[in-house]
Amino acid sequence: MAKIVVQNLTKIYGDEPRKALELLRDGYSKEEILTRTGQTVAVGGISFEVKEGETFILMGLSGSGKSTVIRCINRLLEPTTGSICVDGKRVEEMDKRELRAFRGQKIGMVFQQFALFPHRTVLDNVAFGLETKGVPKGERYERSEEILVRVGLAGWKAKRPDELSGGMKQRVGLARALAVDPDILLMDEPFSALDPLIRNEMQEELLSLQQRIKKTIIFVTHDLGEGLKLGDRMAIMRDGRIDQTGTGKEIFSHPANDYVAKFVQKVDVTRMLTAEEIMIQPGEILNLLEGPQLAIRKMELCDTDYIFVIGRDRKLKGIVWVKDALKLAEKGEKGIQGILKQADTVHPTTSIEDIYLRMGRTGRSLAVVDGGGNFMGAVTARSILSLLAEGRKGP
Ligand SMILES: Nc1ncnc2c1ncn2[C@@H]1O[C@H](COP(=O)(O)OP(=O)(O)OP(=O)(O)O)[C@@H](O)[C@H]1O
Ligand SMILES: [Mg+2]
Repeated sequence: MAKIVVQNLTKIYGDEPRKALELLRDGYSKEEILTRTGQTVAVGGISFEVKEGETFILMGLSGSGKSTVIRCINRLLEPTTGSICVDGKRVEEMDKRELRAFRGQKIGMVFQQFALFPHRTVLDNVAFGLETKGVPKGERYERSEEILVRVGLAGWKAKRPDELSGGMKQRVGLARALAVDPDILLMDEPFSALDPLIRNEMQEELLSLQQRIKKTIIFVTHDLGEGLKLGDRMAIMRDGRIDQTGTGKEIFSHPANDYVAKFVQKVDVTRMLTAEEIMIQPGEILNLLEGPQLAIRKMELCDTDYIFVIGRDRKLKGIVWVKDALKLAEKGEKGIQGILKQADTVHPTTSIEDIYLRMGRTGRSLAVVDGGGNFMGAVTARSILSLLAEGRKGP
């Protein structure tokens, strides 16, 4: 279900928006409108929906209108025209009282610049939103301390912002937004000012936090890699308009125009693939009831030194290595139970990056197993190599 619906949103800076709107309707560009009227079209009529629990990315170069959109959603800026619905309620029609409740409870915002109170402690900064909501002091601090633990700042509550690093300040900002437990988080380039390592760390933490808290998030970034990593879907903005909306994969495989194609071509597409998409069906697999002789023959057939073993129920039971099977066959044993080893497994949705890491460590093939333990396929060194070869050819 759509949590946020934005329709035909425009925001024009200047004292004669009507003139600019007319030209906009007639198809004039942002630049032409500026020269003719002196009005800046920050947002030139955009529509999109964000689903409940989704992380939606607004992506675009500097000046494309991302911050303006996000600030119209909680009406830090008044839209010039258009409508914004949150949970079916029109934000632009809210009166002062409704707006205060909306901002205080439903929506939290994290900015690029930390926007912390310099003279307050970390704890007081986090508790600020609860204070304005009239939550009693004891409860306020209790909740804020909990949130500080969640964002990894438990020991820092008595410090002041200038005693913290950039990454930590941003955690305080996030904690402050989360303290009031809003349904929606608006995040405007929250990690852009951080250096790459800290930034990566913060991204990972947001991902794992989001798995637990499942907020609806609009996340602004001009970094495509960050957008792909964090987002379920994204909108690519240019000059106040949206060129394309979709999942990263959709946008990569079918860019709507040359601009989008250029914008995304820098990113390595293979990075977005998952185990499910690169796995192969092994030439042979062994049934739990089959013996070492057959195991050896099957391994010879597919020229491997291992074979995955499954039960009648298609569930993965383990792996058998050829050296163990040979020993067993020599002894004349019939069952393979004794040499069955635990196989390295990955989930169908495991990212290629994680697969690289896992295989890099062991060099072994990985069995792809779903949540129910069913064997789905295998990721082998060969499947990775062929993928790299394909990548070479280019799109
Ligand atoms: N207060 C303002 N008055 C006039 N024009 C403004 C104002 N704020 C923004 N603009 C203009 O509106 C357009 C969109 O700005 P906005 O800040 O939304 O872009 P952005 O995509 O967030 O950029 P950045 O990545 O640099 O943050 C720009 O052309 C900008 O110059
Ligand atoms: Mg901005």
